[in-house]
Amino acid sequence: MTNTLDRNKLRQLLEAEEGRFHKTHPTSYELYQRARKSLHGGVPMLWMIRWAGSFPVFVKEAKGAHFMDVDGNSYIDFCLGDTGAMTGHGPAATVKAIHDQIEKGITLMLPYEDVISVGEELQRRFGLPYWQFALTATDANRFALRMARMITERPKVLVYNYCYHGSVDETFITLDEEGTAMSRANNIGPQVDPRYTTKVIEFNDIAALETALSARDVAVVLAEPVMTNIGIIHPDPGYHDALRELTRKYGTYLIIDETHTICTGPGGYTAAHGLQPDFLTIGKPLAGGVPAAVYGFTEEVSQQFASRLNVDDADVGGIGGTLAGNALSIAAMKATLEHVLTEEFYNKAIKLQEYFTEGLETVIKEFELPWIVKRLGNRSEYWFRPTPPKNGGEAAAAIDHELDRYMHLFALNRGILMTPFHNMALISPETTQEDVDHHTNVFREAVRSLIN
Ligand SMILES: Cc1ncc(COP(=O)(O)O)c(C=O)c1O
Repeated sequence: MTNTLDRNKLRQLLEAEEGRFHKTHPTSYELYQRARKSLHGGVPMLWMIRWAGSFPVFVKEAKGAHFMDVDGNSYIDFCLGDTGAMTGHGPAATVKAIHDQIEKGITLMLPYEDVISVGEELQRRFGLPYWQFALTATDANRFALRMARMITERPKVLVYNYCYHGSVDETFITLDEEGTAMSRANNIGPQVDPRYTTKVIEFNDIAALETALSARDVAVVLAEPVMTNIGIIHPDPGYHDALRELTRKYGTYLIIDETHTICTGPGGYTAAHGLQPDFLTIGKPLAGGVPAAVYGFTEEVSQQFASRLNVDDADVGGIGGTLAGNALSIAAMKATLEHVLTEEFYNKAIKLQEYFTEGLETVIKEFELPWIVKRLGNRSEYWFRPTPPKNGGEAAAAIDHELDRYMHLFALNRGILMTPFHNMALISPETTQEDVDHHTNVFREAVRSLIN
């Protein structure tokens, strides 16, 4: 249908949804006008300008799988802070731990005993022996990259086309249509042209991987085990074995970034599929939405790093963060790991996500759409193409910004928040079957409006 879609009609439908959005969000609009006088673009973060409405929804409060905006509209939240709130908003155990900790100190630059429990739990879940803390997954990735370059004394990083690992300078690189590496579109003021720091290849391309690594100048591959930021792209069978084999063969470290793929299960994709990374990074939902991230590494990495680190300069070596490992983040992380991101949560949420996916597939079949749905654990995503893309290049080519915007705004106007810029949905511990049914019905209505 995407090819035969009547674009004029789509534009008219979008305009009508914009009108509806304006009418039902007067207070958000007023706040946005006020915000524009003190915040660049009227938003706290640049990219928030890109939400589907012509101004962002201002939130009043959020709890569990739902939130309410300042105009009294309520929503089912399938975006969940793009995984930051995969725990649901304000999970009880995390909130209690935060309250208890806040009375006893927030940040000291000294360890509390709880941090050991967190280290032990991370060890148990992900299988790596040593851990360090950061506040964001971006920083966890940056610090792991530094360690890998220091140990290997190699200059380059390797990433996949259309990956996203946070605002890590080295990663803003893509392949053009001829397969030549170039700075990613809209890479804002890069410190260094990423072609000097980074090699970029397509996901699932083993031959390209071997060619890139064989020069023996790549310190580390930074990889999501399943790509999630240009839609969900699964690895081909055997791809991870080849990735590990080749990285070992050419003396290159492997970082697995589980920040989104923690949707697979309690130990992420790594534990579920027996991966053996040298480093593992993760942030976002670890502390129920309180800023916290970690990076873990092997005994070998730990020893190599220790033997090179000048402890006298450890505070000014480029790995840091005054507030990293603060008591509040640690308390929130401990409670979230112990009581929220549990085996039981995953069992329930994955089942509900299967139901969500079935709902979408039923509608796609009903209207004979050339669309598909891909799922990973409690995350799913629908695509405007009939087959799953194998890599970032193929995925990027399937993006239809106008249709995306319509599907999002249509949903938003009917009380559903999807993850922006693609059609992704996450299930929280408190998402219900009724929430999912509402989404399926709204999705059906949106499709019908396009076709009739
Ligand atoms: C896979 C992955 N890694 C790292 C990050 C960075 O997370 P943060 O923005 O919290 O630093 C993201 C953010 O979307 C991500 O998707």
